[in-house]
Amino acid sequence: MEIDEAYKGREHSLIKHELLKGYLEVLLSIVGVSGVKKFTYVDCFAGPWGDDTGSLAGTSIAISLEILTKVRHTLEAKHGVHGLEFRAIYVEAAKRRYQRLSEYLDKNSPKGISCHALNGDYAALQDDILKLCGNESFTFFFVDPMGWVDVGVPRLAKLLRRPKSEFLITFMYDFLNRAIGMADYREQISQMLGKLGEKDYEQLDRLSTQDRADWAVRKYREQLKAMMGPDGKYPARAFHADVLHKAKERVHYHMVYLTRHHKGIVEFAKASEKIDSLQKIVRTQTKLDSSRQRNLFSAEQWVEHENGVATNLDDVKAYWLRQLTDQPVRYDETRLANMLEETGWLTRDFQDAFRELQAAKKVENLDGSPRRTKHPIHFSDSERLRRCV
Ligand SMILES: C[S@@+](CC[C@H](N)C(=O)[O-])C[C@H]1O[C@@H](n2cnc3c(N)ncnc32)[C@H](O)[C@@H]1O
Repeated sequence: MEIDEAYKGREHSLIKHELLKGYLEVLLSIVGVSGVKKFTYVDCFAGPWGDDTGSLAGTSIAISLEILTKVRHTLEAKHGVHGLEFRAIYVEAAKRRYQRLSEYLDKNSPKGISCHALNGDYAALQDDILKLCGNESFTFFFVDPMGWVDVGVPRLAKLLRRPKSEFLITFMYDFLNRAIGMADYREQISQMLGKLGEKDYEQLDRLSTQDRADWAVRKYREQLKAMMGPDGKYPARAFHADVLHKAKERVHYHMVYLTRHHKGIVEFAKASEKIDSLQKIVRTQTKLDSSRQRNLFSAEQWVEHENGVATNLDDVKAYWLRQLTDQPVRYDETRLANMLEETGWLTRDFQDAFRELQAAKKVENLDGSPRRTKHPIHFSDSERLRRCV
């Protein structure tokens, strides 16, 4: 794999941007086909950041504009949807960067996308942002800070409470982790994770590195969901993708996703699957690039080999066996979203585990077919599953 020059040395950003790109396109397309005509994309920490070229190709600014343009075109040309309104709002606090942002938008705003640059702290500008969004548009907020204190839940409150909205938030776990337990940061930590007592801190000290990261991101997710609240009968939901440390086997940050629709979780988990593989390839490629030995295999081949060795499939199988009984139950996308949210596993993990259990005659899909070798369950068809033993 060739890593684009714009991302050399900042491979984390490549993973983050691929997730943004992959999910945003799918999301806007699904929502557009469902009849919604007004869309807003809000970049709360816009930059430009990390790309010194005039094209800003490796920034969320250029990426989001490219996706909005593409989706708008597809909705019009392929699906015959007309009367579309697309808006993009970019917020940047630093004066110089804001100037670059404004100049870029002046020259590069695509036809059919109404672009706005705002200068200042996104939290102080929440009323202006919401006014620009209007009440009707479906809005996607990308919240991508450099640290963690700027995305405490009370600071995000007004945006979180907006209906018809989804969020992708970078949760800088590695930085927050260093501050957990420091007396000076208790107030800020509580704005992220809720009030923690002495028992919580003691419990945290006993957790493994991975469990500690999981615990923190789940706490953050819970606080965010509580602030978001439901949309009628649809509860706030969350999922997250791990972005690993460049060189070490531990989480650097999490990309936390929030929605009020089960379909969002299912689609975001799909986008996370692709990112999971890409991340492994990028990490392997970086290692191969720095090794002096000639490599017989490409990064993709190494990863394909490693993917064959599933690490937690036994846990997933045990989960299926706990869920299922001898009475058939329909498994639809709402149920899948619940399972994804609860466990943090990916859809392919559930499919792989079910396939092995099915081969061992421990479970069956009453509506399935033996010809399905990769995806034994079609959740979109609400198929009936049961346990055989
Ligand atoms: C990590 S960079 C953004 C990267 C960009 N989203 C991307 O993916 O290309 C964070 C940006 O947010 C700006 N920033 C920092 N604090 C801010 C705040 N409170 N409100 C708005 N922008 C802020 C910084 O100046 C910086 O340009």
